Amino acid sequence: MPHVSSMTSEQLLRWYVEAGVDETIADVAVNRFESSTRAPVPAPGPKGLAEASPPSPPLLQPSPPHANVLSHRPTPAPDISNGDITAAVHLAQAAETVDELRQALESFDGCVLKKTATNLVFTDGNPAARVLIIGEGPGAEEDRQGTPFVGPSGKLLDKMMASVGLDRTNVLISNTVFWRPPGNRTPTAHEIAVCLPFVERLIELVDPKILVALGGPAAKSLLAQTAGVGRLRGKWFAYSTPGLVRPIEATALYHPAYLLRSPGQKRATWSDWLAIKRKLEQG
Ligand code: URA
Repeated sequence: MPHVSSMTSEQLLRWYVEAGVDETIADVAVNRFESSTRAPVPAPGPKGLAEASPPSPPLLQPSPPHANVLSHRPTPAPDISNGDITAAVHLAQAAETVDELRQALESFDGCVLKKTATNLVFTDGNPAARVLIIGEGPGAEEDRQGTPFVGPSGKLLDKMMASVGLDRTNVLISNTVFWRPPGNRTPTAHEIAVCLPFVERLIELVDPKILVALGGPAAKSLLAQTAGVGRLRGKWFAYSTPGLVRPIEATALYHPAYLLRSPGQKRATWSDWLAIKRKLEQG
């Protein structure tokens, strides 16, 4: 392959597409590599974190005996020598509200996805909700609007939630990563690990009754499971972190993008939403 500077327009276009650039947003390219500055690691926050603690994998405790529980294997601890993860832990733990957590993310330059994204995509919905939904990562429309699940997947998600009386006034929606992966690829393990301290802090701050992982990457990182969603859905897990006063009931659902490609699985997901509704009705 010739050097970029000597490529024909067609070669250059092909090169961009292969690198995941599948749309143009503005007439003039923004060189985010030039403008980025690394966020300083703040001094220990009010919780007195003398040193960065590694982002603890969620402690999954057995659900009550009546629940259908899978034994769990903790996710391997992310590389804690990584300064970006250390900075993420400090920043996230210092946030005392969802708004502060958003501000912390805005100041955080440790996730490589930020360099290619147009907007931070953090949460949508009600921070006091009893249901917290975590998807995979923003797509093109989410990146454009800075809001999670506003594209085709979001429309299906809204429809499914509406069937059990849920909408964005009574759920909060976020993702495992907060910037769009180029070309809508699956976020890498490192990108997920660097965002995980913020996701975990979000869960602690919202402290919902039910945590829903949408799709494989969210289920894998939040439920510390290696099985696919097909094996995990319909089951309940107890999610806990040291910052939670009690474990949260957590489950995994097929991702709406998958359902759009495989509508035959929608039936299973309708029944999963009904199970969520029943849990909410239990109080
Ligand atoms: N898919 C996701 O996982 N998250 C979004 O926000 C949009 C699509």
